[in-house]
Amino acid sequence: MSQNDGPAKSTEASDIHLHRVADYVELSHLAADIVTRVIQENPSDAVTLPTGETPRGMYEELTRRIERGDLDFSSIHFFCLDEYLGKGIDDRSSLTSWLDAAFLTPAGLHGDNIHFIPSTAPNPKAAAADYDKAIADRGGLKLAVVGLGFNGHIAFNEPGSAIDSRTRVVNLTDESRDQNAAYYDGAETIPRQAITIGLGTILESELIVLIVSGASKAAILKTTLKGPITEDVPGSFLRTVGDRLIVIADRDAASSLS
Ligand code: PGA
Repeated sequence: MSQNDGPAKSTEASDIHLHRVADYVELSHLAADIVTRVIQENPSDAVTLPTGETPRGMYEELTRRIERGDLDFSSIHFFCLDEYLGKGIDDRSSLTSWLDAAFLTPAGLHGDNIHFIPSTAPNPKAAAADYDKAIADRGGLKLAVVGLGFNGHIAFNEPGSAIDSRTRVVNLTDESRDQNAAYYDGAETIPRQAITIGLGTILESELIVLIVSGASKAAILKTTLKGPITEDVPGSFLRTVGDRLIVIADRDAASSLS
């Protein structure tokens, strides 16, 4: 790993590797460094990476590395993390379309090993279970990079999600729908349901990286890392995996941690 790996393990959340970095640029580089290392060590295994504002810089950095020939992503099985029910890659408000524009197209990744959430399948419930099985068939996830919702959600595992939940159709909270409508200036109607990779599936990943940026996430990051481990804050379940969790938080996001 490179010098961007940041400070050594913090003692403030037991067993968790907490990297406090100065800013969003450092966060993006460190996340890209970890993704790069895992892919170089496991070039044809399964990973999931998130959509949202937080990973944008990480994707820019990964794209640069792929373009330079420093990172070969071509054999990786990339499982998308979540998607609104009924929305596919051709819908501008879908998460897959965001991912396509932010990473897949710039990085030239369009092979069969990019696994899209089966959000437009005729039987989404069965298709979600098949998607989970496809991850298991590849030996599970080597790496799951995830963001943190303002309500503590991980992917679209909303409050109330069970620790052992699998990839499934879920109901979205109004809070999550509002958070995501904001990306389109409220102009898009966000569906009430989604398919998400399950918490249990994420927690079984060999490595989990939680990326959190900005002062607006400081309160929920503190609750996630210091509050009770509870279904009310799905992100708190990440603490159950011990040293398989790396948290990368920039100074603003980490500002409420002592
Ligand atoms: P964000 O979303 O990166 O856009 O803040 C994170 C999330 O809600 O999971």
